[in-house]
Amino acid sequence: MHTTFMLRKFSPGDLQNVMQTNRACLPENYTDFFFVDLHQRFPETFIVAEQDGKIVGYIMCRIEMGLSNFGFGGLVRKGHVVSIAVMPQYRRRGVAQAVIKKALEGMEYYKAKQGFLEVRVTNEAAISLYKKLGFEITRTINGYYSDGEDAYVMTKKIS
Ligand SMILES: CC(C)(COP(=O)(O)OP(=O)(O)OC[C@H]1O[C@@H](n2cnc3c(N)ncnc32)[C@H](O)[C@@H]1OP(=O)(O)O)[C@@H](O)C(=O)NCCC(=O)NCCS
Repeated sequence: MHTTFMLRKFSPGDLQNVMQTNRACLPENYTDFFFVDLHQRFPETFIVAEQDGKIVGYIMCRIEMGLSNFGFGGLVRKGHVVSIAVMPQYRRRGVAQAVIKKALEGMEYYKAKQGFLEVRVTNEAAISLYKKLGFEITRTINGYYSDGEDAYVMTKKIS
């Protein structure tokens, strides 16, 4: 039978599996404290996707106050996607799309007016994913990544 993934909020018992997924998919890795701290502060925007009894993807975010990414509107509450990844064997099945939508609901719960993220300018898969979900490129940050690559900031209005 064809199984599908399910979404749920991160729980502390997922820590090692989420850290493994992060290491398998991205060069930007973090300490266990970093994951636990984000979960304690913003549990509604830390979502995992589970399939076949294992974690196959996750998203974690932080709520911040800052200038509107659209260049007007002054100080606003923003939801920042800190990290998102889906295991290679489980890609192109809508997992990333689903965890982002769930995280955007969490951002709305925290009263964020915008969601945003940084993405490598060469990461075509991620850029098309975010565009599909209504994010637009609002800025470029030169040399954002530790290897010197530039980042696009992509932003989406929330409700
Ligand atoms: C980017 C990433 C999270 C996408 O995960 P995913 O679960 O495969 O994405 P989805 O299945 O939800 O894709 C949704 C849409 O995004 C776009 N997309 C996703 N992967 C794509 C690819 N490789 N090439 C082109 N478009 C892609 C498509 O529009 C896709 O819709 P479609 O499958 O109906 O065409 C995944 O490739 C990944 O983990 N990459 C490594 C980590 C990473 O780059 N994280 C983002 C850092 S900013």
